[in-house]
Amino acid sequence: MSIEDLESIALAMVARGKGIIAIDESTGTIQRRFEAVGIENTEENRRAYRELLLTTPGLSEHISGAILFDETIRQSTKDGVPFTTLMKKAGIIPGIKVDKGPVPLALYPGDVVTEGLDGLRERLQEYARLGAQFAKWRAVINISEETPSSAAIEANAHALARYAALCQEAGLVPMVEPEVIMDGDHSLDVSYEVHEAVLRSVFNALYEQNVLLEGTILKTSMVIPGKDAPEQASVEDVADATVRVLKSTVPATLPGIVFLSGGQTDEQSTAHLNAMHTSGEKLPWPLSFSYGRAMQQAALKLWAKDLNGNVAAAQKIVAERARENGQAALGKWVK
Ligand code: 13P
Repeated sequence: MSIEDLESIALAMVARGKGIIAIDESTGTIQRRFEAVGIENTEENRRAYRELLLTTPGLSEHISGAILFDETIRQSTKDGVPFTTLMKKAGIIPGIKVDKGPVPLALYPGDVVTEGLDGLRERLQEYARLGAQFAKWRAVINISEETPSSAAIEANAHALARYAALCQEAGLVPMVEPEVIMDGDHSLDVSYEVHEAVLRSVFNALYEQNVLLEGTILKTSMVIPGKDAPEQASVEDVADATVRVLKSTVPATLPGIVFLSGGQTDEQSTAHLNAMHTSGEKLPWPLSFSYGRAMQQAALKLWAKDLNGNVAAAQKIVAERARENGQAALGKWVK
């Protein structure tokens, strides 16, 4: 795998008007999503659900890639076609979540750090053999009176950079994901300041670890007030603040930036992305989506009502969410 290969995968991930669907929920996370709509969390239900998503007719029109979980990358359709084979045939780039999730950061109450570096080199080699072309690692930053500490920001940035370097060594494009969590009552300005500190630290760490930015994708949260903030922000304010913080921290050599939805409603996540492209601001990189919940939640709710009968109807919703977000990534979404 050459540098050019990493660059071309990264560019394909953020092709014009396309985004990435995140279906990499760990077994614990999908348990919560299934439980909320009354689906039993069995391996077969997880497989069937991921098959539904990945076989959505026309998915690749607006979806360039999908992030899978360890269990999913080893699974096949009910007819025995490995998911990665199916995806490559459909022109959807297989990705894999490789972090092992956040744990409390010792001596810093409220802060967390993502684990998973031990043995990562070998795991990445296996994922590459299984067909993955990019990998995702999510760092979690909590905002409260006491957090995030600079120790937490640095520990998470360092881990992201170590993981990104290992990915490139293995020929995988790192999707570097610092998520500033929306929980809390913090203001838009506080969210801005935290994003600024986190993104500065992440790009410093990537530079220190020799990571090739041309072969890296940033997946980030948007600058948005906490869910319980007394003053919520307009769509334009969120879009402006997000673009501003990205412009002041993210080098223009990066091939692209995608957003997580992080608990925003479907409509908010689409409207915010669209507004980033309609403000007239010149952007040095494509800005697109890598939504999990905002791509899936409506479809999952419908599928839950009839696991056998509602497959096609649920897929229609997935295709529609992909189309809407693909249009938003071009600033062409019409509500
Ligand atoms: P949400 O869009 O549901 O936040 O998920 C995206 C993701 O991959 C979080 O790691």
